[in-house]
Amino acid sequence: MKATLAFDIYGTLIDTHGVIDALTPYFDDHAHAFSAAWRAKQLEYSFRRGLMQSAVPFSQCTREALSFCLASYGKSLSEPQVDDLMAVYGKLPAFDDAERALAALSPNSACWAFSNGEQSAIDQLMAVSGLNTYLRGAVSVEPVASFKPNPAVYHHFNQQTQSEPANTFLISGNPFDVIGAHNVGWQTIWVQRDRRQVFDVWGASPTYTVSQLSDIIDII
Ligand code: 2OP
Repeated sequence: MKATLAFDIYGTLIDTHGVIDALTPYFDDHAHAFSAAWRAKQLEYSFRRGLMQSAVPFSQCTREALSFCLASYGKSLSEPQVDDLMAVYGKLPAFDDAERALAALSPNSACWAFSNGEQSAIDQLMAVSGLNTYLRGAVSVEPVASFKPNPAVYHHFNQQTQSEPANTFLISGNPFDVIGAHNVGWQTIWVQRDRRQVFDVWGASPTYTVSQLSDIIDII
């Protein structure tokens, strides 16, 4: 049976730090740190919204996290400036190795994108990057009204793609996502792009760990 590959989007196929150039005029040398803080707050807001069972579109988590981080840095941007940063987030670049990996894997495996992002946002990202050429489609958690790592969103993916948990691989750069997929019986591949990144010490290790997406070609 063909394996089903569920590629996480933000932080796996798509580089959330692609916003750094747009942040540099405001934050100079601190643009990278600001980008990391923005991303961490965005995820925290998704976790909290999920726990509160009061999901909002993921882009709202992104925008509210941006407002929080701007306030934390004592920075006040106009509404058009904030809108411009959000627009950059809607067209973030793919990682360099994403296309090569998907091109090699898609003939023999069912490759899907799978993300917290709204359907419209992830469809746009996959189209702008051209990665949609290699994908069967992009599955959003939106209809579940929750976020990763709620087990319900992984079940939703299996339902939508008519796949079985044991034959599904989550490919993600986000350890919390890897653990969430392991929790529902999926196999997992952690993309550890930075050797200094530590995996959560939870007793749930990834099935495989790679340093770049193209390394998956040797696994599947
Ligand atoms: C995604 O679902 C977790 O942000 C990550 O795309």
